[in-house]
Amino acid sequence: MLTGKRILLVIGGGIAAYKSLELIRRLAQRGAKVRAIVTKAGTEFVTPLSVASLSGDKVYQDLFSLTDEADMGHIQLSRDADLLVVAPATADLMAKMASGRADDLASTALLATDKPVLIAPAMNVRMWLHAATQRNLAQLKADGVTTIGPNDGDMACGEFGPGRMAEPAEILASVEAHFSRSQELKGLHALVTAGPTHEPIDPVRYIANRSSGKQGYAIAGALADLGATTTLVSGPTNLAAPRGVKFVKVETAHQMLAACESALPADVAVCAAAVADWRVDHAANQKIKKGAGGLPALNLVENPDILATLSSRASGRPRLVVGFAAETEKVIEHAKAKRAKKGCDWIVANDVSPETGVMGGDDNTVHIISASTTDTWPKLAKGEVAHRLAAKIAAHLKGARA
Ligand code: CTP
Repeated sequence: MLTGKRILLVIGGGIAAYKSLELIRRLAQRGAKVRAIVTKAGTEFVTPLSVASLSGDKVYQDLFSLTDEADMGHIQLSRDADLLVVAPATADLMAKMASGRADDLASTALLATDKPVLIAPAMNVRMWLHAATQRNLAQLKADGVTTIGPNDGDMACGEFGPGRMAEPAEILASVEAHFSRSQELKGLHALVTAGPTHEPIDPVRYIANRSSGKQGYAIAGALADLGATTTLVSGPTNLAAPRGVKFVKVETAHQMLAACESALPADVAVCAAAVADWRVDHAANQKIKKGAGGLPALNLVENPDILATLSSRASGRPRLVVGFAAETEKVIEHAKAKRAKKGCDWIVANDVSPETGVMGGDDNTVHIISASTTDTWPKLAKGEVAHRLAAKIAAHLKGARA
């Protein structure tokens, strides 16, 4: 059942919009509270009156309508939902979402939201297969958007192939799966580290690395999506905090360790940060001047190992500790040795050689290594790696709870 769940349905301008009426009916039957935005093009295919009759609420259409804004501003519209569903998601709506445009009520609400988004694409087969749409799709997936369909079939335009919107029953099942999944880590605390650390040399210079933080942020978001109370301890990045996580920003390895320890107890810790192995012993208090006494010598000392420290805690060790192994050669062999050395339960190994484009890129090919198994996943968007890993963590913790 979906009793009390608030769904904001965005109806785009495609022939499949008629199926969205059936979707509203089914969602309402399951107890969901549906509010709908119909785009201008959408009103060419369904009338706001029929949408309002089925949803039992007024239909939101115009970003600049005084009545709409007075009743329910576009920010409030997306805040007041548990899930946003875009059906049909046209090529144009997907392009707007992927590039962050906000030129009407639908795209503005989608940009303003911090809630999960599910899209059901529907378009002509050539439009679907076009490189631009596939690029937008990859971007949306990397942004954490879930997609359902499109299906293969005869299309209204007379062609055959992928592009038909998923049936209302399939979309409903996907919505229900979303909410049942959301409960899997409820009541549990997840701690995630992400990003690089910056180790100061003097007040203006520091030692850093190429980590973007994308994978760790995606994991924190995926764990929060499954209902975990999630703390993300992050080194400096350009990324926004994922929705629903407690965000703790740090600079150095020492600060990261302190933030992790004060976030304990945790049921699971995922250390995805690229922590600097060394810091400069006694960073200068003032900017080091060029030419004063020759070249400066950096006296490096070892940083604390956060993963090893969390793994070896005598009391309050998270039940599951997951590390990452960023390697450039003999990936599995090195990762296995790293898992044993650090004492974590699983290690997620990946090849970060420059030619893989993993560092800073959107995709990742990983191996999940435990004491007894090595599971190799295909090349996936970092968002998908995160969802799979979160699901694996949930299954493990549930097994351990039972
Ligand atoms: N890690 C950590 N604290 C550190 C160094 C690493 O928590 N000071 C964690 C990382 O978050 C990651 C794992 O240890 O989960 C492995 O990191 P990696 O950089 O691959 O390994 P290192 O221990 O630094 O070994 P090396 O650089 O020699 O490969």
